[in-house]
Amino acid sequence: MDLSSLPADRSDDDDTAARSLAHWSEAGRSEMEAFYAFASLDYELLARALPWDATLTAVRDRRSLGAGTPLRLLDVACGSGKFPAALLAGPRLRDHLEAGIDYALLDPSAFSIAEAAGVLAPPFVRGAAYETTLEDLDPSAGPWDVVWATHALYALRPDRLQQAADRFVAAIAPGGLGFLAQGAGGGHYLRVYEAFLRGVRGSGTPYLGGEQVADALERAGAARDLRVHRHHLHYEHRVPLDDLGLLEGYLQRCLFDDTLGLDEMLVAPQLGTYLAGCRDEQAGVYRFAQDVLCATVLPEGVPSPWTAAS
Ligand SMILES: C[S@@+](CC[C@H](N)C(=O)[O-])C[C@H]1O[C@@H](n2cnc3c(N)ncnc32)[C@H](O)[C@@H]1O
Repeated sequence: MDLSSLPADRSDDDDTAARSLAHWSEAGRSEMEAFYAFASLDYELLARALPWDATLTAVRDRRSLGAGTPLRLLDVACGSGKFPAALLAGPRLRDHLEAGIDYALLDPSAFSIAEAAGVLAPPFVRGAAYETTLEDLDPSAGPWDVVWATHALYALRPDRLQQAADRFVAAIAPGGLGFLAQGAGGGHYLRVYEAFLRGVRGSGTPYLGGEQVADALERAGAARDLRVHRHHLHYEHRVPLDDLGLLEGYLQRCLFDDTLGLDEMLVAPQLGTYLAGCRDEQAGVYRFAQDVLCATVLPEGVPSPWTAAS
């Protein structure tokens, strides 16, 4: 389905970016919790997608950081901190306990910044907070040794994408690492939102896919001899057919619309058809198939980390 005919430049108070921001608030907490009952898996898999301890040590070496100097990291669109929480749940960062990792938080939502700050524990040490969008990040801020954005930039306005990518790349110090993880075009997050826009709202700005963001990072990095290396993760969120409350909350968060009940979703044009296709009666679950693009931004000459990890 081609979404290019949908207006991508809506800036009204009810389009994708505005509804995303409204939902990253205390009022959206219960829906957020229903969502993460299943979507925490996204971050558990990212925590295993690379050997993070060694990957961050290689950054320290390229940046020639002294033994006691903390690595500086910027978490773009930190959300509620599910990625650092997933990293902390494993024994993956022991090499960084001594010097620590200065962990800066960027998000336009003060709620998100407070939530993410609450999960940080050694080696992550809370650093500066930037209550702003990525595209509006002051270009003179930073740079950081590591800049990452995990499941972060779906609601970014397409006309601000290149500026956001430029700011992301400018924030990476020479020799540093950029890391992006975002649902790709064939995956559940983009497909369910597309069906919702088509079948329920009639118009609106589609979510940005990982490919679009990685392409923009590639354009931004070219002038600095930075290479983008890509890798896809495929897996499913499985939501029990009979857990209607969780299913409704999960889907409302995927759509940033808590006014639409599950009953309405199931019979809506396009959206209902999409959801029916995800139903597996025999297994007793909805299967929501994820395709997540992971991309590293690294100096030319540093080998792709995915060859060994795949
Ligand atoms: C799904 S959360 C990110 C999850 C997070 N990476 C984690 O580890 O839990 C998405 C976040 O993106 C933020 N956001 C939305 N648009 C943004 C933009 N243009 N720039 C930066 N952050 C944005 C939202 O406020 C929200 O907190």
